[in-house]
Amino acid sequence: MIQAHCVSHEEQTTEEHLLDLVCLLLTFSSPAEGGQIRLRGSGSNQCSGRVEILYGRTWGTVCDDNWDLNDAKVVCRQLNCGTALSAPGGAAFGAGSDPILLDDVSCSGSESSLNECGHGGFRTHDCTHSEDAGVVCSDVRLRLSGSGSTQCSGRVEILSDSNWGTVCDDNWDLNDAKVVCRQLNCGTALSAPGGAAFGAGSDPILLDDVSCSGSESSLNECGHRGFGKHDCGHTEDAGVVCSVQLQQPSISLTSPNKGLVWSPEGAKVTRGYSLVFLCSINCSYPDGRFFLISSDASTVVIKPAVNHSASFEFPVVEYEHQGNYSCLYEVELSTQRFNSTATAPIGVVITLYLYCWCPQ
Ligand SMILES: *[C@@H]1O[C@H](CO)[C@@H](O)[C@H](O)[C@H]1NC(C)=O
Ligand SMILES: *[C@@H]1O[C@H](CO)[C@@H](O)[C@H](O)[C@H]1NC(C)=O
Ligand SMILES: *[C@@H]1O[C@H](CO)[C@@H](O)[C@H](O)[C@H]1NC(C)=O
Ligand SMILES: *[C@@H]1O[C@H](CO)[C@@H](O)[C@H](O)[C@H]1NC(C)=O
Repeated sequence: MIQAHCVSHEEQTTEEHLLDLVCLLLTFSSPAEGGQIRLRGSGSNQCSGRVEILYGRTWGTVCDDNWDLNDAKVVCRQLNCGTALSAPGGAAFGAGSDPILLDDVSCSGSESSLNECGHGGFRTHDCTHSEDAGVVCSDVRLRLSGSGSTQCSGRVEILSDSNWGTVCDDNWDLNDAKVVCRQLNCGTALSAPGGAAFGAGSDPILLDDVSCSGSESSLNECGHRGFGKHDCGHTEDAGVVCSVQLQQPSISLTSPNKGLVWSPEGAKVTRGYSLVFLCSINCSYPDGRFFLISSDASTVVIKPAVNHSASFEFPVVEYEHQGNYSCLYEVELSTQRFNSTATAPIGVVITLYLYCWCPQ
């Protein structure tokens, strides 16, 4: 509040110096005020960007000399942006143009604001803007929860003043879901289910009448009624279903009764012997199913995943089993189905004679 007052008198010139001094004293004598801080620059958002601090009435940058993860931790904490992921220097978010206000910042990491950290003195530095310091914070202020929720679908919950709360579905649409999916790095939004589709939450209802255009980088940038203002019950909790990027599965081939020989053309399997394809995937959606598909689609076998894999057995192979085979994984999340890409095919050639490996 004190800083807002200071900023609003930017036009004054006669007593500028005195006012500067007063603001400066107000800003930095009381740690509770915690000096304002902001993140700016190209590619920045609310929780990552070039660090800028307010000194008196002037915004300015921080030099990257000595800048490290402990300093970034303090910035992320101060901005309520979760943990610090990195502390990029070298004007990673572009070079600022305001004065360089801090250099040689040395936080221990436990301070609650950058003001409490050691530094070389305001405006004392040997830097240029090509050394502007930045932060990347985790931005854990949004989560998806509820029954049937996954990493990329669920009831939307936001963190405000260290309390989690839900979002009401009034006005909730795909543009709002787009922003949530983007913010969570979950790809595109497929649907924006309301009506507590993932179960009713129990935390306070924090947002209502959310109206994103769809291009915002975080839900905080969208219009709404104001935190905690709503006319909703938890039966109206808003959710999202974002698209899911499944990793490619792997495929392997064995013949339990040793009818298989690998050759440059692929797997040669003797007619009458057995063949087992093993499809497996390493992903966080374990309850999917595998497809074993032959290239001419004459064979499509489906099996549920057990322990992230499924085996497809051919106890007695015949000529008709000759072909190229690949595995594909499919998951169903809140009535939406997602496919992985198929593996590169394995060629299987059926032969009449057993290839003999003669020991030397
Ligand atoms: C899954 O993938 C990760 C990273 O590639 C690897 O470290 C881990 O061992 C894999 N787990 C399994 C069960 O294959
Ligand atoms: C799944 O894997 C675990 C650990 O590897 C094993 O103990 C368990 O028996 C496996 N379950 C099935 C059904 O194969
Ligand atoms: C597998 O695919 C390759 C390339 O498309 C093809 O030349 C080959 O004949 C196929 N193999 C079998 C056994 O169908
Ligand atoms: C996934 O692939 C299988 C096999 O090609 C197909 O039957 C199924 O419809 C696909 N599912 C989706 C969601 O594309």
